[in-house]
Amino acid sequence: MRLEQIEKDMLNGKHGKSAQKSMEILTTLGEIFGAECMVDVHGVQIAGVSYANLGEAGLEFLNEMAEDGKVRVLTTLNPAGMDRENWRALGIDEEFFKNQNRAIDAFAKMGIITTCSCTPYLIGNAPHYGQHIAWAESSAVCYSNSVIGARTNREGGPSALAAALTGKTPKYGYHLDENRHSQVLFKINASVKGTDEFGVLGKLIGDKLVELGKKIPYIVGIPSATVEELKSFCASVATYGGTALFHMEKITPEYNKYTKPSEIVIEIDQEDLDKTRAELIDDDLEIDFVSLGCPHASIYEIAKIAKLLEGKKVKKEFWITTARPTKRIADEAGYSKIIEDAGAKFAADTCCVVAPIKGRFKGIMVDSAKACYYGRAKNKFKVKIGSMEQCVEEAIK
Ligand code: F3S
Repeated sequence: MRLEQIEKDMLNGKHGKSAQKSMEILTTLGEIFGAECMVDVHGVQIAGVSYANLGEAGLEFLNEMAEDGKVRVLTTLNPAGMDRENWRALGIDEEFFKNQNRAIDAFAKMGIITTCSCTPYLIGNAPHYGQHIAWAESSAVCYSNSVIGARTNREGGPSALAAALTGKTPKYGYHLDENRHSQVLFKINASVKGTDEFGVLGKLIGDKLVELGKKIPYIVGIPSATVEELKSFCASVATYGGTALFHMEKITPEYNKYTKPSEIVIEIDQEDLDKTRAELIDDDLEIDFVSLGCPHASIYEIAKIAKLLEGKKVKKEFWITTARPTKRIADEAGYSKIIEDAGAKFAADTCCVVAPIKGRFKGIMVDSAKACYYGRAKNKFKVKIGSMEQCVEEAIK
């Protein structure tokens, strides 16, 4: 790889041990993927924050990097394993709380902003069109590449941290124009509305892409989409299809920059969507847990939940997962009080997938296709997808 002087100096240890280790990780990655050089990154988002994923081995690596490592660019974290303030009410034990905080302290020592969210683009870690970044959370990677038009590969925990500590990432994959062309054309012949329907569409497209061995879809037939619908779609298509970039006609900024594919065309009708939705509803379901906010709820979604819950009481465990700064806006706006008076709980900094709740509930209802996938695979829950309104109805009935 062609390295600039500062990159060579980092590699030779002139900027300390952590920068050296980071540059070793990045140059190794660059060589594996055939990168010619590094590129400066505007910001970083680090995943693998939950102590449940990190364990002692991960913590040891973090502490080693924190000995002399300091981030060079704006860096935030993915959700942790617990709400850092409300952990006890959400049933997290004291030992997990202490271990999770040991990890967060190590991140903080490196100068990382310890806001734990999978929607960094909603809370200030927001690149603009064309900027290079190094993000790790799959739904956020898909959102930034596709909806914002920024450029990132799907980083792992160590490579994202290495990018943060050097301000660099190897220039390959989605950082290059030639790798941003779509490969399959999807024509949507049905109306798609709401976060759950966009999640269902994401699963359908993701599953088809896996069958075809392709990654980048070009989607036509969606007349409009909100931020919330797009974040749900991104989470779903990234989960089921491993997709880090899509183009949607007249919706995403690069839709007319690259040629529309014509070799593989897939038509999607209402019947296909209904069939996929049915795959996200288990038989013999007993719902004892409702969770909204996957990816982390926006303030718009929280306002909507408050309106739906006003004057009601929930009868089931009901979490709203969001970023701490969004929760603070909800506090100031009075939404938190309405939601908490109804008996629902905020789970800020965390989510129903990364929190250590495996086996605690029988069945979960969500408006997110991604949460269905991990609810089954990781937490062994039965699952049901529904609209936000249907989720609230389930919680209060
Ligand atoms: Fe975010 Fe957790 Fe969903 S990290 S995308 S809320 S599974």
